[in-house]
Amino acid sequence: MFKLNVPGPNAQALIARDKKVISSSYPRGYPFVMDHGKGVEVWDVDGNRFIDMMAGIAVLSTGHSNPKVVKAVQNAAEKFLHISSDFYHEDWVRLSEKLDEIAPFEENAKTFLTNSGTEAVETAIKLAKYHTKRSNFIGFTGAFHGRTMGSVAFTASKPKYHSGFYPLMPGVTHVPFPYEYRPVLERKAGEDYGQAVVRYIEEEIFGHNVPGDEVAAILVEPIQGEGGYVVPPATFFPDLRKLCDKYGILLIADEVQSGMGRTGKWWAIEHFGVEPDIITSAKGIASGLPLGACIARDSVMTWSKGAHGNTYGGNPISCAAALATIDLLEESYLANAAESKCDIHPLARCVARVL
Ligand SMILES: Cc1ncc(COP(=O)(O)O)c(C=O)c1O
Repeated sequence: MFKLNVPGPNAQALIARDKKVISSSYPRGYPFVMDHGKGVEVWDVDGNRFIDMMAGIAVLSTGHSNPKVVKAVQNAAEKFLHISSDFYHEDWVRLSEKLDEIAPFEENAKTFLTNSGTEAVETAIKLAKYHTKRSNFIGFTGAFHGRTMGSVAFTASKPKYHSGFYPLMPGVTHVPFPYEYRPVLERKAGEDYGQAVVRYIEEEIFGHNVPGDEVAAILVEPIQGEGGYVVPPATFFPDLRKLCDKYGILLIADEVQSGMGRTGKWWAIEHFGVEPDIITSAKGIASGLPLGACIARDSVMTWSKGAHGNTYGGNPISCAAALATIDLLEESYLANAAESKCDIHPLARCVARVL
């Protein structure tokens, strides 16, 4: 019988070296030491071969080392590796134009590029504060939005993410995510769980605690990822949108995990027929190159010169990888995801990403 030898001797040696010099904060849940990958397959340093069911960590929207992405990266690298964000370059503009084209807004979109998902969320938080001149937020239990000091204040999937880091960013109130199968709120007769959660925000939170007209934004994953791949009831987002409109609150959809075609549409929020004001993206956007994006309605991204910036945003290699990734998604992978045969709720297909 075939017996898997993992970690093999080469992997064991590397894991021992890793322990000595790499931050002890990484969970390092599995003893897999990568050697190389191709498509959906990966090989470890002892020659063991696996199917990567995790697409890296929900990142490899076009598979490992897709030749078209590799070529785009090589071509970009030969031209230049960096240019200050005080200047311009074409792929940065082309990518932002493409994101404007696929953004889930009728209105034009403007984009701020980052290096990661958490930075995209930080950008959205800052933009919401700046634009609304308000500083309170609503987040959801079970949510994951990242680990930097702003994003982690919203992350509420495990207490470990907060332990040792208090005080967190003030002004964030968490409410239950509309998880129909594990409800924690009472429903009124005739009400579904999505409606119950929105009513709870208005009656209990705005009614007793945080004034609704002092809330800058509601930050929410259209489908919770780390929280357990939770798809909210169809009523939830339309009702949440109405609540936001009533109080002048921005709706931020964190699509770092659920976006970039993963559910068969560019953005998971599109399944609910609702337009957010801001979306955040990362992970699948550049097939593994570090890139994030905060994409906002033109009328929301109104901050002034110097209000926000970065050194590596718009990195030419990441932009080239993202443009190739979006081409591939458009050519075939988006349709693959939409057609995937799956008996579960169509939105929950995001767990079975099709490469
Ligand atoms: C929904 C969501 N938002 C934000 C993040 C943070 O992204 P990053 O790890 O690139 O900072 C993640 C990462 O898993 C995520 O799933």
